[in-house]
Amino acid sequence: MVVEFSDIAAAAQRIRGKVVYSPCPASIPLSLATGMEIHCKLDNLQRTGSFKERGACNALQLLGTAEQQRGVIAASAGNHALGLTYHARLLGIPVTVVMPRTAPLTKVVNCRQMGGEVILHGEDFETARQEALRLQAERGLTLIHGFDDPAVIAGQGTMGLEILEQVPDVEAIIVPIGGAGLIAGVALAVKTLKPDVLIIGVEPDRVASYAAAVVAGHPVMVAARPTLADGLAVPQVGHNAFAVARPLVDHTVVVREQDVALAVLRLVELERAVVEGAGAASLAACLAGLVPELRGRKVVLPLSGGNIDTTILGRILERGLARDGRLCQFTAIISDRPGGLAAFAALIADEGASIKHIEHERTFMEGDLSTVTVRCVVETRDAGHIRELRERLARDGYSALFTESGPATGHAN
Ligand SMILES: Cc1ncc(COP(=O)(O)O)c(C=O)c1O
Repeated sequence: MVVEFSDIAAAAQRIRGKVVYSPCPASIPLSLATGMEIHCKLDNLQRTGSFKERGACNALQLLGTAEQQRGVIAASAGNHALGLTYHARLLGIPVTVVMPRTAPLTKVVNCRQMGGEVILHGEDFETARQEALRLQAERGLTLIHGFDDPAVIAGQGTMGLEILEQVPDVEAIIVPIGGAGLIAGVALAVKTLKPDVLIIGVEPDRVASYAAAVVAGHPVMVAARPTLADGLAVPQVGHNAFAVARPLVDHTVVVREQDVALAVLRLVELERAVVEGAGAASLAACLAGLVPELRGRKVVLPLSGGNIDTTILGRILERGLARDGRLCQFTAIISDRPGGLAAFAALIADEGASIKHIEHERTFMEGDLSTVTVRCVVETRDAGHIRELRERLARDGYSALFTESGPATGHAN
């Protein structure tokens, strides 16, 4: 085996005092929301905002003096770059990171501020990885792979050790999968000490590279479509990571974009935690009903990262609100006579909904000149409230078409 349990135990000693031993508290609101006994492993509280410091810190310390002096390079969707840059700086090791141009700004800026040389290359992780390999050879640097380096996998496994110390009677851990380094390390640590604990993987349906590897029997390249869980947008899982994880992981599930958005929203509202899409994927799986066998059981969700652009956070929260039935959008045909808009707005107010945005369209309409189309975004309480609004519009003779986004959709009449 490329990684042994003893490597994880040694990594735990090596990173002690350098990487935050993150809390793993129980969450009553999330337990109520999911019907499980939820604990959250708060690795979003690491100094660079993600668990990736664990592997980076371990791998950097294992380098020889000459390698440390020449410097290291990595390709990263962002979080490995941050963790590596931070710990390389503490150790005085020069660091170059290649990120796809699509990497969140916050990750790029923070890396540069910590003194890393950041190269933006290509639109996806794979292209960035190819460039990192080219530069490694050209400059004689040491490549520290973000999910397939055995020392990185061992470092990530320390999260599993901590979870068992903090929640000794844990029954399941739901681990987000990008390149599969985290799940490999956690599964090896946990299954060695407590084989009965379920290890369930979660990945976005837009880049389900672990599921594809399971079907093929080995890592294969899948098309990577952009996802809110940008940290998980890895088109091919690592060979070492897969070899370690495959026999130990019980099963995996895939989450949709709207499930991730809702999970980010829930974490802000219920846990007051800013968590990026990748870090919210485990909760997304629970909320979407993808792990019904865990009802009533003690489950740990690693909130694996919190690096999210503020603008993206705003957009994700709005999507989450739409998914939750607390924002809805529809077009309606109303009278263009004086008072037509006022009557329409009064009806919406009477239903207890609040207009967030409204827009008239006169020019490009066909037919009746006495009517006008309005496009509305309205704040509602929940899916039931949207249904009531829709029924009321139909009852009062409005033809309204609701946009499909949340649970309540369809025509008013
Ligand atoms: C926040 C976050 N969670 C989970 C993962 C998945 O880790 P791995 O690539 O080791 O599977 C990543 C990967 O970058 C990440 O950034």
